[in-house]
Amino acid sequence: MSIETLAETARAMVAAGKGILAIDESTSTLARRFEGVGIANNEGNRRAYRELLLTTPRLDQYISGAILYDETIRQSTREGVPFARFMADNGILPGIKVDKGTQPLAGCPGEVVTEGLDGLRPRLEEYYKLGARFAKWRAVIHIGDDIPSGTCIEANSHALARFAALCQEQGLVPMVEPEVLMDGAHDIETSYEVHEVVLRSLFDALYQHNVALEGTILKASMVLPGKDSGEAASVEEVAEATLMCLKSTVPAILPGIVFLSGGQDDEAATAHLDAMNRMGPHPWPLSFSYGRAMQSAAMKIWSQDLAGNVGKAQETVFARARDNGLAVRGKWGA
Ligand code: 13P
Repeated sequence: MSIETLAETARAMVAAGKGILAIDESTSTLARRFEGVGIANNEGNRRAYRELLLTTPRLDQYISGAILYDETIRQSTREGVPFARFMADNGILPGIKVDKGTQPLAGCPGEVVTEGLDGLRPRLEEYYKLGARFAKWRAVIHIGDDIPSGTCIEANSHALARFAALCQEQGLVPMVEPEVLMDGAHDIETSYEVHEVVLRSLFDALYQHNVALEGTILKASMVLPGKDSGEAASVEEVAEATLMCLKSTVPAILPGIVFLSGGQDDEAATAHLDAMNRMGPHPWPLSFSYGRAMQSAAMKIWSQDLAGNVGKAQETVFARARDNGLAVRGKWGA
């Protein structure tokens, strides 16, 4: 696969005014989200829910791609069209989450490392055949007393780099996601410092592993005060801190950066993205790859009437996509 093809896909993922719909929750995570709104967790409901999201009318106006889970990329619409085919036919790039989640990192209490490298090459090969054109790997960094450790940061960066190199070998654009959690009582300065060291370590590892940055997308967390800090940072403060941190760590050759929502409420996730884009131009397009901030309102509506509320729920998905698409242009709050 030529780097030019990967770069083209990467650029399409962050096309002007568009972002990524993250619907790659593992079965256990989706079970938790379903339980929260009283939806029974079975294969039929998981399929129907993903169909609702992916068949939202005119979704491609604001959504360039969607990240699927292993079960989802093997499922089809009611009419029997595989989801990945349906997406490709409707202008939405199919992506796939390929990590296998986190495990406690031995020797480093309170920290985790993401697993899933063993056997990854043949899995990527299969996902490509199933239609995937980009893949995602999420590392999770906790902030707390004396953590993150250098060991944890290095272990996760190493795994992200090996994942990214394998993806490019197999013709998939890697979306590297080092998520610094907002859980905890830390202040925004601590979040900044942790993001800075994590991103430096990541780009160092990508370089060591010969990953072509022009065919790579960064999925980043925002620099925010900890959820339990009692600190309220303004939208501008968050936008400025996040931008400064990214500008000091992320090479300009990267085709784009997308943000995760990470438990921020829907409107905050949109407002922060909008504010950052108003402060542009920047070296890279800044867009979104939201999971919860794209879905939670729609899931709630759907839960009230699985058969009758599909259209209503889709209107909400579309509205969230439009708002976030406007934020990509810095035109949301206008
Ligand atoms: P959230 O936007 O809910 O944090 O999910 C993004 C994510 O990491 C899934 O790809």
